[in-house]
Amino acid sequence: MSSLLLLPGDGIGPEVTAEVRRVAERLTNDLVIEERPFGGASYDAYGTPLTDETLAAAKASDAVLKGPIGGPKWDGATQRHLRPEAGLLALRAGMEVFANLRPAICFESLADASTLKREVIEGVDMMIVRELTGGVYFGQPRGIEAMPDGGRRGVDTQVYTTHEIERVARVAFELARGRRNKVTSAEKSNVMETGLLWREVVTELHARDYADVTLEHMLADNTAMQLVRAPRQFDVIVTDNLFGDILSDEAAQLTGSLGMLPSASLGAPGKPGLFEPIHGSAPDIAGRGWANPLSTILSFEMALRWSLGRPDLADRLSGAVKAALDGGARTRDLGGSMSTTEMADAVLAGL
Ligand code: NAD
Ligand code: IPM
Ligand code: MN
Repeated sequence: MSSLLLLPGDGIGPEVTAEVRRVAERLTNDLVIEERPFGGASYDAYGTPLTDETLAAAKASDAVLKGPIGGPKWDGATQRHLRPEAGLLALRAGMEVFANLRPAICFESLADASTLKREVIEGVDMMIVRELTGGVYFGQPRGIEAMPDGGRRGVDTQVYTTHEIERVARVAFELARGRRNKVTSAEKSNVMETGLLWREVVTELHARDYADVTLEHMLADNTAMQLVRAPRQFDVIVTDNLFGDILSDEAAQLTGSLGMLPSASLGAPGKPGLFEPIHGSAPDIAGRGWANPLSTILSFEMALRWSLGRPDLADRLSGAVKAALDGGARTRDLGGSMSTTEMADAVLAGL
């Protein structure tokens, strides 16, 4: 028996995670699923987005599957450290999941669903490895302070250590060996000290342990442009927390929709992974049953593969997703009219 902690989250979160529960129950009897409020839902229930009990349950489980969190309800009024997003950062830090894998794959049958041309995105298959527990998301000092002249000053700190860079780069090189053997490291070494250190550490690690892998350094702004110009050039992209956040949303559109992109956040071997779609709580469509559940279903697929030791079930599930798409299943974000539940039904039919 394995254990899965399910954190439905906010907005469309409960809608898409409910479908994962159906999928999981169809696939296996060997999974114990526990559910807890997280994010805004946890703030409303307990006054904090992440309780000590939920973090302890996350660490004690075999895998955590999380829906998106946040929304306008908690944006203005709530103090920053009590906002849903702060709970998510605390969960990632608490679980020590420093490597965030965000695969962007253009399914053949979806090549016309993107706003980008078919000939550009056809065959796209890349893995963005985003550093997840460091950088400007966590650097100190940070805050907004009053200045003597009556103005205010906002401060964020971008900081990386050699250890943080090396361990995430190692994940990228290892992944590349099982794929097309190429790593693109994206930073801003032309203007940032952390960018320069990033480039040096990745270069050294490559020479020492991964000389068989092709390594390319690319400035992050150029990477953003290359992603829409010629995305097939990328195999594995390794980058920092903030650039990874931005570049992965951009890469999502290469797959047809933000509603398609799953992620896996991994730490030390043997520790539970955190699995979540990369998109947000989509307040504009929450409650209508329009959300695409595939990013969350595919996040569960990654949980089966990376944390639950069931690559066989993961293969069955990704096959069923592909079959549903080949059969024409489309939610609104993909240009169709199916509801969240109908899309999940199409996947269940393939199982
Ligand atoms: P968003 O990702 O929620 O939405 C951007 C656009 O994509 C919207 O038009 C939305 O309808 C659409 N979209 C997103 N997921 C979809 C899906 N599964 N199916 C169909 N359409 C989908 O981004 P936002 O509006 O900038 O952020 C809303 C809230 O979500 C914010 O509070 C933000 O902090 C939070 N957020 C949370 C996470 C997370 O929990 N990991 C990630 C990103 C944003
Ligand atoms: C993501 C989100 C989060 C991030 C927010 C909600 C904290 O945008 O998972 O991509 O910036 O990491
Ligand atoms: Mn994001």
